[in-house]
Amino acid sequence: MSELKVLVTAGAGGIGRAIAEAFSATGALVAVCDIDVEGLKQLERELPDLMTVQCDVADVSSVERMIDQVTEQLGGLDVLINNAGIAGVTAPAGELCLRDWEKVLRVNLTGTFDVTRCALPYLKAAGSGAIVNMSSVAGRFGYPNRIAYSTTKWGLIGFTKTLAIELGEFNITVNAILPGAVDGPRFQSVLEGRAKVSGRTVDEETQAALASQSIKRLVDPRHIADLAVFLASDSGRSISGQMLPIDCDMQHTS
Ligand SMILES: NC(=O)c1ccc[n+]([C@@H]2O[C@H](COP(=O)([O-])OP(=O)(O)OC[C@H]3O[C@@H](n4cnc5c(N)ncnc54)[C@H](O)[C@@H]3O)[C@@H](O)[C@H]2O)c1
Repeated sequence: MSELKVLVTAGAGGIGRAIAEAFSATGALVAVCDIDVEGLKQLERELPDLMTVQCDVADVSSVERMIDQVTEQLGGLDVLINNAGIAGVTAPAGELCLRDWEKVLRVNLTGTFDVTRCALPYLKAAGSGAIVNMSSVAGRFGYPNRIAYSTTKWGLIGFTKTLAIELGEFNITVNAILPGAVDGPRFQSVLEGRAKVSGRTVDEETQAALASQSIKRLVDPRHIADLAVFLASDSGRSISGQMLPIDCDMQHTS
């Protein structure tokens, strides 16, 4: 079998980077797109086997250009990891301005749709494929002070389930991964945002976040990456239309 051709959006850092590294370690041909040029340059230096392309998933022409470049250089596409997502402003719904609401929807929902729309002809042509959408624990529970984020992460569940039905006949699986509190700078800034709103310290917010989990630690991003690799592997070919939480058994958001 030839190597899998994989695209990871927002892969210059965080969970996306862990996913790109994990696919690359299996021998897959991996392309990473990201809005952050400096982050991509650093990734190129550290992991020269990866193909990198600058792209803002919220910008239609940037997405079209990126998919053209990636599919040409990889020679097609088998796996799409829709990882790009921004958290947005931390504020109660009544204090969130329309511009901040729309910014989150534009990246998390419209961006995911647009990348998928442009990638679909190549995934269908491959005759077998996998799409993984990065939702969140915020797509399983309500998420106070992050209404735009939570709305988009629930939206990705409907997106996943609908796409799974439409793409079954093309032998393309579509699943959503729902990470909880993941170790890294992103969750650190979530905790800082919560502390600002609540008046508690970051340490108190960390303890409060872990209190709702059966397993009292943050999720290792490599575990999320391994799940994505499994879903795209031969062993994962019968799993489609599913929401897969990976959150140390979180019972509620804080
Ligand atoms: N970290 C967590 O605790 C956590 C938990 C649940 C879900 N998630 C989801 O996982 C995904 C990745 O999260 P993360 O924590 O690794 O993210 P992150 O904040 O570390 O960002 C990862 C990358 O996204 C890129 N990016 C931002 N806007 C972009 C855009 N418009 N176009 C292209 N790239 C863009 C950034 O440059 C960065 O390199 C997101 O969808 C997030 O919602 C994260």
